[in-house]
Amino acid sequence: MNTYNEDDLHTAATAAILAPSLHNSQPWQLRLHHGTIEILADRTRQLTIADTTGWATHIACGAATLNARLALTHTGTPPDVTLLPRDAGPDVIARLTPGHPRPATYPEQALHTAIPHRHSNRKPFFPDPVPSEVRAQLIEAARTEMAWLDLLVGMTALSGFAEIAQSADRVLRRNPQYQAEMTTWTHADHAPDGVPVTAGAPTPEPQDLLPQRPFADHKRAPGRDYEPEPLIAILGTTGNLPTDQITAGQALQRLLLTITDAGLAASMISQPIEVPAAREQLRRSLGRSGIPQMAIRIGYGQPGRPTPRRDLNDVLAQGI
Ligand SMILES: Cc1cc2nc3c(=O)[nH]c(=O)nc-3n(C[C@H](O)[C@H](O)[C@H](O)COP(=O)(O)O)c2cc1C
Repeated sequence: MNTYNEDDLHTAATAAILAPSLHNSQPWQLRLHHGTIEILADRTRQLTIADTTGWATHIACGAATLNARLALTHTGTPPDVTLLPRDAGPDVIARLTPGHPRPATYPEQALHTAIPHRHSNRKPFFPDPVPSEVRAQLIEAARTEMAWLDLLVGMTALSGFAEIAQSADRVLRRNPQYQAEMTTWTHADHAPDGVPVTAGAPTPEPQDLLPQRPFADHKRAPGRDYEPEPLIAILGTTGNLPTDQITAGQALQRLLLTITDAGLAASMISQPIEVPAAREQLRRSLGRSGIPQMAIRIGYGQPGRPTPRRDLNDVLAQGI
């Protein structure tokens, strides 16, 4: 069997851990062995209140998988990917083995380059609309990964989504355990995980259309309100099994990297996915038989700032 060398595997692992995760919990482990890389769910880091089902862990591990795929493709040998391999336990999310060598395509190179530049940006965006050719690329990015993307067009669709998102946010804010867990993952100091207070949105105000997580209390600059008509995209899959959620994670990351490559910014709004009744309401409002997996706000913003990651050595699975 073909194998990747140690350097290539470390490069893939380094790219994988730059993936997004709920509250930056980084619920993954990476196992490099016999010239392959496996992305594992680290259940000890699965959020006990916000992620009882494992949905967020699967999304994050799927996103990490896409990064590793791009990094290995960049070496000239794109991987063959097996999701949830049958000969492994349920925590092995993906196994990447060497496929047929070929050079990375230009779009693959562009997405690979975007990996370290992708950051969540919860601040207000500029009001400029996202060009139609970029919108088409975003839909294509999801389709490439076997997911679907609906862009909400017009104020009626946007207001409908805002109502669902705000009511889901209220449900979560009324849950003291949920709030306490989020506080645990919010850091004012230099921690290797969790969300730094500087990465939060400005403190919510009544005129805000959408719930953006503030992670701290910082007032917005006068006049710096949110864009009046944000572009909202709903990413979804046909089903909601773990494999669908991993697929959604890969599609999410391809979408976010496409956004970054286009010079745009994004923030995720998962409250209406986390609250089952809201998710069902959102699904019905889209007229879709599939399952919404993430809502993303997209627009032109100031460049986002990186959030911390654990040291690679702390993420590598030991002794196996
Ligand atoms: C499953 C999932 C759900 C998320 N939900 C939200 C959310 O509701 N609000 C938010 O501001 N960020 C959300 N995020 C973004 C994370 O907070 C972010 O990825 C993490 O803090 C790391 O920062 P980075 O994206 O800048 O690398 C979510 C990310 C994932 C993977």
